[in-house]
Amino acid sequence: MTRLEELLGDPGPELRVSAAGAPSSGGSDAPSSGSLDTRSSDGPDGPGAGPVLSFRGCTRTYPGPPQVRALLPFDLDIPAGGLVTVAGPSGSGKSTWLSLAGLLDRPTSGTVALDGQETTTLSEIDRTDLRGRMIGFVFQAFHLMPLRTVTENVELAGLYQGMDRATRRDQAAEALAVVGLTPRAMARAGQLSGGEQQRVAIARGLVGAPRLLLCDEPTGNLDTATGAGIVTILERLAATGITVVVVTHDPDLAARGTIRVEIRDGRVHVR
Ligand SMILES: Nc1ncnc2c1ncn2[C@@H]1O[C@H](COP(=O)(O)OP(=O)(O)OP(=O)(O)O)[C@@H](O)[C@H]1O
Ligand SMILES: [Mg+2]
Repeated sequence: MTRLEELLGDPGPELRVSAAGAPSSGGSDAPSSGSLDTRSSDGPDGPGAGPVLSFRGCTRTYPGPPQVRALLPFDLDIPAGGLVTVAGPSGSGKSTWLSLAGLLDRPTSGTVALDGQETTTLSEIDRTDLRGRMIGFVFQAFHLMPLRTVTENVELAGLYQGMDRATRRDQAAEALAVVGLTPRAMARAGQLSGGEQQRVAIARGLVGAPRLLLCDEPTGNLDTATGAGIVTILERLAATGITVVVVTHDPDLAARGTIRVEIRDGRVHVR
Protein backbone atom coordinates (compact mmCIF):
# COMPACT_ATOMS: atom_id res chain seq x y z
CA MET A 1 0.00 0.00 0.00
CA THR A 2 1.39 3.40 -0.92
CA ARG A 3 1.49 6.38 1.45
CA LEU A 4 -1.44 7.96 -0.36
CA GLU A 5 -3.52 4.81 -0.03
CA GLU A 6 -2.63 4.56 3.65
CA LEU A 7 -3.75 8.10 4.22
CA LEU A 8 -6.88 8.09 2.14
CA GLY A 9 -8.00 4.49 2.41
CA ASP A 10 -10.26 3.25 -0.34
CA PRO A 11 -12.02 6.13 -2.11
CA GLY A 12 -15.28 4.23 -1.76
CA PRO A 13 -17.60 2.72 -4.31
CA GLU A 14 -19.53 5.92 -5.07
CA LEU A 15 -16.40 7.88 -5.84
CA ARG A 16 -15.17 4.99 -7.98
CA VAL A 17 -18.45 5.10 -9.89
CA SER A 18 -17.96 8.79 -10.48
CA ALA A 19 -14.37 8.19 -11.54
CA ALA A 20 -15.72 5.82 -14.18
CA GLY A 21 -17.69 8.64 -15.73
CA ALA A 22 -21.05 8.85 -13.96
CA PRO A 23 -22.69 12.23 -14.48
CA SER A 24 -22.46 14.56 -11.53
CA SER A 25 -25.47 16.44 -10.25
CA GLY A 26 -26.30 20.12 -9.88
CA GLY A 27 -23.96 21.32 -12.61
CA SER A 28 -21.03 20.74 -10.31
CA ASP A 29 -17.72 19.59 -11.71
CA ALA A 30 -17.10 17.36 -8.73
CA PRO A 31 -17.94 13.71 -8.19
CA SER A 32 -21.61 13.64 -7.30
CA SER A 33 -21.22 11.75 -4.07
CA GLY A 34 -19.06 9.23 -2.31
CA SER A 35 -17.13 9.10 0.88
CA LEU A 36 -13.48 8.78 1.54
CA ASP A 37 -12.33 6.59 4.39
CA THR A 38 -12.40 8.82 7.45
CA ARG A 39 -9.66 7.13 9.45
CA SER A 40 -6.56 9.05 10.34
CA SER A 41 -3.17 7.47 9.70
CA ASP A 42 -1.83 8.46 13.10
CA GLY A 43 -2.22 6.69 16.40
CA PRO A 44 -2.63 8.67 19.62
CA ASP A 45 1.15 8.91 20.10
CA GLY A 46 2.00 9.29 16.42
CA PRO A 47 3.15 12.43 14.70
CA GLY A 48 -0.44 13.70 14.65
CA ALA A 49 -0.76 13.79 18.45
CA GLY A 50 -0.12 17.56 18.71
CA PRO A 51 -0.98 20.45 16.44
CA VAL A 52 0.15 20.02 12.86
CA LEU A 53 1.04 23.73 12.73
CA SER A 54 2.04 25.86 15.66
CA PHE A 55 2.88 29.56 15.40
CA ARG A 56 4.44 31.38 18.35
CA GLY A 57 5.03 35.11 18.48
CA CYS A 58 4.98 35.28 14.69
CA THR A 59 5.21 38.48 12.70
CA ARG A 60 5.97 39.25 9.06
CA THR A 61 7.19 42.65 7.99
CA TYR A 62 8.16 43.35 4.39
CA PRO A 63 11.14 45.69 4.54
CA GLY A 64 10.07 47.79 1.56
CA PRO A 65 10.41 50.73 1.24
CA PRO A 66 7.82 51.41 2.24
CA GLN A 67 7.87 48.91 5.10
CA VAL A 68 4.65 46.85 5.40
CA ARG A 69 3.73 45.17 8.69
CA ALA A 70 1.73 42.43 6.97
CA LEU A 71 1.22 40.22 10.07
CA LEU A 72 1.21 41.54 13.63
CA PRO A 73 2.35 39.24 16.48
CA PHE A 74 0.20 36.13 16.78
CA ASP A 75 0.11 32.66 18.35
CA LEU A 76 -1.93 29.94 16.62
CA ASP A 77 -2.27 26.16 16.83
CA ILE A 78 -3.87 24.21 13.97
CA PRO A 79 -4.86 20.68 15.04
CA ALA A 80 -4.40 17.80 12.61
CA GLY A 81 -7.31 16.97 10.33
CA GLY A 82 -10.28 19.05 9.30
CA LEU A 83 -11.01 22.04 7.16
CA VAL A 84 -9.37 25.29 8.22
CA THR A 85 -10.64 28.40 6.47
CA VAL A 86 -8.67 31.65 6.39
CA ALA A 87 -10.74 34.72 5.51
CA GLY A 88 -10.28 38.47 5.47
CA PRO A 89 -10.34 41.49 3.19
CA SER A 90 -7.91 41.93 0.31
CA GLY A 91 -4.49 42.93 1.58
CA SER A 92 -5.19 41.75 5.14
CA GLY A 93 -2.32 39.22 5.14
CA LYS A 94 -3.90 35.90 4.11
CA SER A 95 -1.36 34.93 1.44
CA THR A 96 1.45 36.11 3.70
CA TRP A 97 0.12 33.80 6.42
CA LEU A 98 -0.21 30.90 3.96
CA SER A 99 3.40 31.38 2.82
CA LEU A 100 4.55 31.05 6.44
CA ALA A 101 2.36 27.96 6.94
CA GLY A 102 3.78 26.40 3.75
CA LEU A 103 7.41 27.13 4.64
CA LEU A 104 7.67 29.25 1.50
CA ASP A 105 8.66 32.22 3.64
CA ARG A 106 10.09 32.77 7.13
CA PRO A 107 8.53 34.99 9.81
CA THR A 108 10.32 38.21 10.66
CA SER A 109 10.11 37.11 14.30
CA GLY A 110 8.71 34.08 16.11
CA THR A 111 8.61 30.37 15.32
CA VAL A 112 6.61 28.00 13.10
CA ALA A 113 6.51 24.32 14.07
CA LEU A 114 5.30 21.70 11.61
CA ASP A 115 4.21 18.48 13.30
CA GLY A 116 6.20 19.52 16.38
CA GLN A 117 9.37 20.36 14.48
CA GLU A 118 10.58 23.95 14.66
CA THR A 119 11.22 25.09 11.09
CA THR A 120 12.50 28.66 11.19
CA THR A 121 16.05 27.66 12.09
CA LEU A 122 16.30 24.87 9.51
CA SER A 123 18.46 25.30 6.42
CA GLU A 124 16.70 26.05 3.14
CA ILE A 125 17.49 22.51 1.94
CA ASP A 126 15.90 20.96 5.03
CA ARG A 127 12.87 23.22 4.74
CA THR A 128 12.45 22.27 1.08
CA ASP A 129 12.69 18.60 1.99
CA LEU A 130 10.14 18.96 4.82
CA ARG A 131 7.81 20.94 2.57
CA GLY A 132 8.03 18.30 -0.14
CA ARG A 133 7.18 15.49 2.28
CA MET A 134 4.50 17.22 4.34
CA ILE A 135 2.76 19.90 2.33
CA GLY A 136 0.74 20.07 -0.88
CA PHE A 137 -0.30 23.33 -2.54
CA VAL A 138 -3.32 24.34 -4.61
CA PHE A 139 -3.56 27.83 -6.13
CA GLN A 140 -6.36 29.93 -7.61
CA ALA A 141 -4.76 29.88 -11.07
CA PHE A 142 -4.25 26.05 -11.27
CA HIS A 143 -0.71 26.43 -12.75
CA LEU A 144 -0.99 23.40 -15.03
CA MET A 145 1.01 22.75 -18.19
CA PRO A 146 -1.80 22.98 -20.77
CA LEU A 147 -0.15 20.90 -23.50
CA ARG A 148 0.80 18.05 -21.15
CA THR A 149 -1.62 15.31 -20.18
CA VAL A 150 -3.47 15.36 -16.90
CA THR A 151 -1.35 12.41 -15.73
CA GLU A 152 1.92 14.13 -16.67
CA ASN A 153 0.89 17.23 -14.73
CA VAL A 154 0.19 15.20 -11.60
CA GLU A 155 3.29 13.02 -12.02
CA LEU A 156 5.48 16.11 -12.02
CA ALA A 157 4.87 16.52 -8.28
CA GLY A 158 6.35 13.06 -7.74
CA LEU A 159 9.38 13.97 -9.85
CA TYR A 160 10.06 16.94 -7.57
CA GLN A 161 9.82 14.59 -4.60
CA GLY A 162 12.39 12.21 -6.10
CA MET A 163 9.99 9.32 -6.71
CA ASP A 164 10.92 6.70 -9.28
CA ARG A 165 8.85 6.45 -12.44
CA ALA A 166 6.60 3.58 -11.35
CA THR A 167 5.82 5.25 -8.02
CA ARG A 168 5.06 8.54 -9.77
CA ARG A 169 2.67 6.79 -12.11
CA ASP A 170 0.93 4.89 -9.28
CA GLN A 171 0.57 7.96 -7.11
CA ALA A 172 -0.76 10.06 -9.99
CA ALA A 173 -3.35 7.40 -10.85
CA GLU A 174 -4.46 7.17 -7.22
CA ALA A 175 -4.68 10.91 -6.76
CA LEU A 176 -6.70 11.29 -9.97
CA ALA A 177 -9.09 8.59 -8.75
CA VAL A 178 -9.55 10.48 -5.49
CA VAL A 179 -10.70 13.61 -7.36
CA GLY A 180 -12.81 11.58 -9.82
CA LEU A 181 -10.71 12.30 -12.92
CA THR A 182 -9.53 8.84 -13.96
CA PRO A 183 -11.50 9.06 -17.24
CA ARG A 184 -9.62 12.24 -18.22
CA ALA A 185 -6.16 11.01 -17.23
CA MET A 186 -4.81 11.08 -20.81
CA ALA A 187 -6.49 14.34 -21.90
CA ARG A 188 -4.40 17.46 -22.32
CA ALA A 189 -4.81 19.64 -19.24
CA GLY A 190 -5.64 22.70 -21.36
CA GLN A 191 -8.70 20.93 -22.78
CA LEU A 192 -10.36 20.53 -19.38
CA SER A 193 -12.96 22.80 -17.81
CA GLY A 194 -11.89 25.15 -15.04
CA GLY A 195 -13.35 22.90 -12.35
CA GLU A 196 -11.62 19.85 -13.81
CA GLN A 197 -8.33 21.72 -13.98
CA GLN A 198 -8.64 22.61 -10.32
CA ARG A 199 -9.28 18.93 -9.56
CA VAL A 200 -6.05 18.09 -11.42
CA ALA A 201 -4.27 20.68 -9.29
CA ILE A 202 -5.71 19.10 -6.12
CA ALA A 203 -4.55 15.66 -7.33
CA ARG A 204 -1.08 17.09 -7.93
CA GLY A 205 -1.13 18.49 -4.38
CA LEU A 206 -2.00 15.04 -2.99
CA VAL A 207 1.02 13.25 -4.47
CA GLY A 208 3.27 12.11 -1.63
CA ALA A 209 0.36 11.96 0.85
CA PRO A 210 0.91 15.36 2.50
CA ARG A 211 -0.35 16.03 6.03
CA LEU A 212 -1.23 19.58 5.01
CA LEU A 213 -2.96 20.74 1.85
CA LEU A 214 -2.72 24.53 1.54
CA CYS A 215 -5.13 26.15 -0.91
CA ASP A 216 -5.06 29.85 -1.83
CA GLU A 217 -8.46 30.89 -3.24
CA PRO A 218 -9.05 27.48 -4.87
CA THR A 219 -12.55 28.48 -6.00
CA GLY A 220 -11.65 32.07 -6.95
CA ASN A 221 -11.67 31.42 -10.72
CA LEU A 222 -14.74 29.17 -10.72
CA ASP A 223 -18.49 29.73 -10.88
CA THR A 224 -20.52 29.02 -7.76
CA ALA A 225 -21.66 25.49 -8.62
CA THR A 226 -18.23 24.38 -9.80
CA GLY A 227 -16.60 25.94 -6.76
CA ALA A 228 -19.04 24.05 -4.52
CA GLY A 229 -17.87 20.79 -6.11
CA ILE A 230 -14.26 21.66 -5.30
CA VAL A 231 -15.22 22.45 -1.70
CA THR A 232 -16.94 19.07 -1.43
CA ILE A 233 -13.72 17.33 -2.49
CA LEU A 234 -11.68 19.37 -0.01
CA GLU A 235 -14.12 18.56 2.80
CA ARG A 236 -13.87 14.85 2.01
CA LEU A 237 -10.09 15.04 2.08
CA ALA A 238 -10.25 16.89 5.40
CA ALA A 239 -12.38 14.05 6.80
CA THR A 240 -9.59 11.56 6.03
CA GLY A 241 -7.17 13.22 8.45
CA ILE A 242 -5.41 15.62 6.08
CA THR A 243 -5.41 19.19 7.34
CA VAL A 244 -6.91 21.19 4.48
CA VAL A 245 -6.34 24.93 4.77
CA VAL A 246 -8.37 27.14 2.43
CA VAL A 247 -7.84 30.86 1.99
CA THR A 248 -11.05 32.40 0.70
CA HIS A 249 -12.96 35.62 0.13
CA ASP A 250 -16.22 33.67 0.06
CA PRO A 251 -18.13 34.01 3.38
CA ASP A 252 -20.14 30.81 2.75
CA LEU A 253 -16.97 28.80 2.26
CA ALA A 254 -15.30 30.49 5.23
CA ALA A 255 -18.26 29.45 7.44
CA ARG A 256 -17.71 25.78 6.57
CA GLY A 257 -14.35 25.60 8.31
CA THR A 258 -14.04 23.41 11.39
CA ILE A 259 -11.55 26.09 12.40
CA ARG A 260 -12.09 29.59 11.06
CA VAL A 261 -9.14 31.92 10.99
CA GLU A 262 -9.85 35.57 10.29
CA ILE A 263 -7.18 38.11 9.37
CA ARG A 264 -7.89 41.83 9.45
CA ASP A 265 -5.19 44.45 8.95
CA GLY A 266 -2.53 41.89 9.84
CA ARG A 267 -4.29 40.73 13.02
CA VAL A 268 -4.90 36.96 13.17
CA HIS A 269 -7.98 35.73 15.06
CA VAL A 270 -9.60 32.30 15.41
CA ARG A 271 -13.36 31.81 15.53
N1 LIG B 1 6.58 40.81 -1.27
C1 LIG B 1 5.97 41.85 -0.70
N2 LIG B 1 6.63 43.01 -0.49
C2 LIG B 1 6.02 44.06 0.09
N3 LIG B 1 4.75 44.04 0.54
C3 LIG B 1 4.06 42.92 0.35
C4 LIG B 1 4.61 41.76 -0.27
N4 LIG B 1 3.66 40.79 -0.32
C5 LIG B 1 2.58 41.32 0.26
N5 LIG B 1 2.80 42.58 0.66
C6 LIG B 1 1.84 43.47 1.36
O1 LIG B 1 1.45 42.81 2.55
C7 LIG B 1 0.05 43.02 2.81
C8 LIG B 1 -0.65 41.65 2.87
O2 LIG B 1 -0.60 41.06 1.56
P1 LIG B 1 -1.22 39.62 1.25
O3 LIG B 1 -0.84 39.29 -0.14
O4 LIG B 1 -0.81 38.69 2.33
O5 LIG B 1 -2.79 39.94 1.36
P2 LIG B 1 -4.04 38.98 1.05
O6 LIG B 1 -4.90 39.00 2.28
O7 LIG B 1 -3.58 37.67 0.55
O8 LIG B 1 -4.77 39.80 -0.11
P3 LIG B 1 -5.66 39.25 -1.35
O9 LIG B 1 -6.99 38.84 -0.76
O10 LIG B 1 -5.81 40.46 -2.23
O11 LIG B 1 -4.93 38.13 -2.01
C9 LIG B 1 -0.44 43.92 1.69
O12 LIG B 1 -0.41 45.24 2.18
C10 LIG B 1 0.58 43.73 0.59
O13 LIG B 1 0.69 44.88 -0.21
MG1 LIG C 1 -3.79 36.68 -1.33
